[in-house]
Amino acid sequence: MRIRTRSCVLAGLALWGAGCQLDFAPEPAAPVVHYALGPATTAVDEAGDPVVPLHVQEHIAGSLGMLFGTPSSPRYLLTEEWVDEGFDPNWPTAAADDQGSGEFSEDELARIKADNERDFRRELAAIEAGDFDAVRIPSWMPDLEQSWRDLLAGKPAEQRDDAFKGEAKALFVDYYPTLRESAEHFRQQCVHCHGVEGGGDGPTARFLNPRPRDYRPGIFKFTAQADKSVPRRADLYTILDEGVTGTAMPSFRRLSKAELHGLVDYVRLLSIRGMVERDLVTTYLSDDALPAEAVLESYASIWSKWKGADEKKTKYDGDVPAPSPESIERGRTLFMDAATGNCFSCHGEQGRGNGASAFTTSPETGEVVPAYKDDWGNVIIPRNLRQGIFRGGRRPIDIYYRIKNGINGTPMPAAVSSMTDADIWALVHYVGSLSSQPRTRAHRSAGHAPHDATDPQQSSPGQTSSGH
Ligand code: HEC
Ligand code: HEC
Repeated sequence: MRIRTRSCVLAGLALWGAGCQLDFAPEPAAPVVHYALGPATTAVDEAGDPVVPLHVQEHIAGSLGMLFGTPSSPRYLLTEEWVDEGFDPNWPTAAADDQGSGEFSEDELARIKADNERDFRRELAAIEAGDFDAVRIPSWMPDLEQSWRDLLAGKPAEQRDDAFKGEAKALFVDYYPTLRESAEHFRQQCVHCHGVEGGGDGPTARFLNPRPRDYRPGIFKFTAQADKSVPRRADLYTILDEGVTGTAMPSFRRLSKAELHGLVDYVRLLSIRGMVERDLVTTYLSDDALPAEAVLESYASIWSKWKGADEKKTKYDGDVPAPSPESIERGRTLFMDAATGNCFSCHGEQGRGNGASAFTTSPETGEVVPAYKDDWGNVIIPRNLRQGIFRGGRRPIDIYYRIKNGINGTPMPAAVSSMTDADIWALVHYVGSLSSQPRTRAHRSAGHAPHDATDPQQSSPGQTSSGH
């Protein structure tokens, strides 16, 4: 079995600043790469002087290093409260009373294992055949590699009986990446777009529109969350599984479930780290001091938002209604009504993304330019809904979430409270109808994985049963 290393525990404030060195593996000989500080921390004023004094920046860097580790050895520092609760976010697959965070149900764990059986079928077959040298472990799984070596070293070749084979297979079937492994996987698959700190600033980023997500503010667009809450594990998993249609964000469905969940763990770490960093800067700027208690308080309160994210999910338990000519017409009325939907003001009367409020005349050049920026400071224009590109997923329920909650980080607002569920479904149907007209069908199928047409949640949002 995988040997779990002891997690780093902060005992009171005694350890503060002592540098808690309890890593998953011996410190490599090469110099340790640290996460860089974000733009809010390193900002300079008009005179070119740092807004946050350099010694405070160093204090912030040190605190973050203690709480989150380094890119080659990321991990969460445990608070005393978590130790008391038996909660350890470093081990999401372990039950909370077994020093994990207990984030997976038995069913989900079973699905992860079944997937591992497929993903590691060659290794499992080699073990079964007793051909242990044929076992190959991918380069982003150094901890699995280590456990495998330890296992082999513990049993001379002539003693490797069936019990040993069972143990060896379990190593692969129970596989779940450590944060260190997921960080390595992230480095190989995601860093060129999302950057080392998840700042959305990898080398490829400047060529892309929309830009890769900067995770550090903790703002994610395509969730089922109300109140602009941080995402659930499931929201991030869906993004990795499906990608973001119509953007550079690819689908990573070819990876195993364990690997995808591990990447979710790591995106969360980067995002939580970024949120804590910003919070520390805000605290310092308002209080002119940054005591250790404030650092811990910020860490605990931001973590609790992520821990409680499931409670923020928009609940919709009803049926997904099928579109009808009446609901589409009702949706059109709401779309055009300034007091309720008001969608036309941004998306335009034809839904082409050219509404009046989305553009303005530049005072300098007199040219018509986009009026809005997103929360990351990039220019953004409303979607042309006639193209039928739904970045957050094209199932009717996905579009329901977009309209009900708005799109976090963008000007697209949440539905006004006077709108009922029936109103929102009517808008889903109307939006779907804009792109399900015959002349735009070629666009609609571009880049989409085929969906099961028998599932009402999977069929096109505006398709009426008679229309197609
Ligand atoms: C080729 C560039 C590219 C690569 C590689 C890439 N992404 Fe992205 N990613 C993007 C872009 C672009 C967006 C923004 C899409 C948008 O705003 O609509 C994005 C968005 C995201 C989001 C945010 C979705 C939301 O709801 O806000 C997450 C999470 C994410 N990527 C994770 C990953 C992970 C993890 C990997 C590696 C396994 C990865 N990405 C690899 C380009 C990339
Ligand atoms: C203040 C401007 C604004 C208003 C008002 C607005 N939207 Fe949007 N909408 C946007 C922007 C900007 C985007 C693109 C967001 C992105 O790509 O990240 C968008 C995207 C969308 C999308 C695409 C979602 C996806 O998954 O890609 C849909 C559908 C949509 N809007 C429907 C509506 C409806 C219906 C209304 C009225 C209830 C509405 N919008 C009101 C600005 C607006």
